Amino acid sequence: MIDLKGKTAFITGGASGMGFGIAKACAREGMNVIIADFRQSALDEALPWFKSHNFPAHGICLDVTDREAYLKAADEAEATFGKVHVLVNNAGIGSGEPRILTGEFEWKQIDMAIDVNFKGILNGILIFLPRILKHGEGGYVVSTASMSGIFPVKGFPMYDSLRMGTITLMEELAMELDGTNVGAAAFCPGPFTTNLGQSSGEFIEKYTGKKPAMPKFEPPKDKDGNPIKFEPPKDENGNPIDFTKLSRDPDEAGERVVRGIKRGDKFIFTHVDFKPAWELRMNAILRAFPDEPPTPGFATVFKGNLYNPIYEQQEQVPGFTFVKKD
Ligand SMILES: NC(=O)c1ccc[n+]([C@@H]2O[C@H](COP(=O)([O-])OP(=O)(O)OC[C@H]3O[C@@H](n4cnc5c(N)ncnc54)[C@H](O)[C@@H]3O)[C@@H](O)[C@H]2O)c1
Repeated sequence: MIDLKGKTAFITGGASGMGFGIAKACAREGMNVIIADFRQSALDEALPWFKSHNFPAHGICLDVTDREAYLKAADEAEATFGKVHVLVNNAGIGSGEPRILTGEFEWKQIDMAIDVNFKGILNGILIFLPRILKHGEGGYVVSTASMSGIFPVKGFPMYDSLRMGTITLMEELAMELDGTNVGAAAFCPGPFTTNLGQSSGEFIEKYTGKKPAMPKFEPPKDKDGNPIKFEPPKDENGNPIDFTKLSRDPDEAGERVVRGIKRGDKFIFTHVDFKPAWELRMNAILRAFPDEPPTPGFATVFKGNLYNPIYEQQEQVPGFTFVKKD
């Protein structure tokens, strides 16, 4: 169990949504908190919460794709609170998916997705991890991926593959860090109610210099082309579904992340509902292995390709009941 009290967390995308939820949960643990976000307006809205609770916090206006600014932000964080122990690479965008099948995309959109949703995370790791290892007091690196990095959703090839890449990156990091007092985890949330649409739009405009195109809404039609009347969906017992219970409060994400860090988790998940999706994918992958006997000697020579202890270190995560605090 890692004691977070008195330690410092640096959280990107920390001024809104799940990043803000993570920052609040870290502050409640007695941590010093740095929230880094490219939107000064969001920082201005978020920082008073820490002040009103008497929690030590500092905001830095940072675009995680800007490496020089990121290096300066790391120095500013250390100048403010001393050593940084926990890095949360949470900044990301969720829209602007290029339509790669129809050719309706611009190369800039492709670069933007990789720059923010993958290189932004790498920048944080490359800048902070050597500093965290150097001070020797221990720590954790968490990167926000998504459940769609576990089970891809049709129509989001860039988003989903970069999220999957993020998960693998964090597993690699956990392997490298095994045996040290620094841990690593991939945070894979399901749906949460956040400002992702708004903030992604602002980032797309900043990066491309153009306002993002609004996706066209096509009302569903039957086979004869007539519009289908909307019927509110019902649950397994025939009761209307309460959407507010499906898309969750970002403060819950924060508490789950902090619990995951304290437990030493490698994977931090929020929605058990995705388990059947993972089983479907995993079983397809298992069936894809040819039905043949193993090659003699292979398991001895390629040991590192077939086994790593980090997977055994992930313990079963108990249930969690979220209680909203102010
Ligand atoms: N909301 C969901 O349902 C959901 C599900 C799975 C994964 N995610 C991921 O969670 C992360 C957090 O998003 P959220 O849903 O809390 O949305 P949010 O908009 O409320 O928070 C994201 C924050 O990141 C900041 N940000 C974006 N790009 C940045 C950059 N280049 N540099 C610095 N800050 C930047 C934004 O300004 C914003 O404040 C994102 O990576 C998102 O893709 C969200």
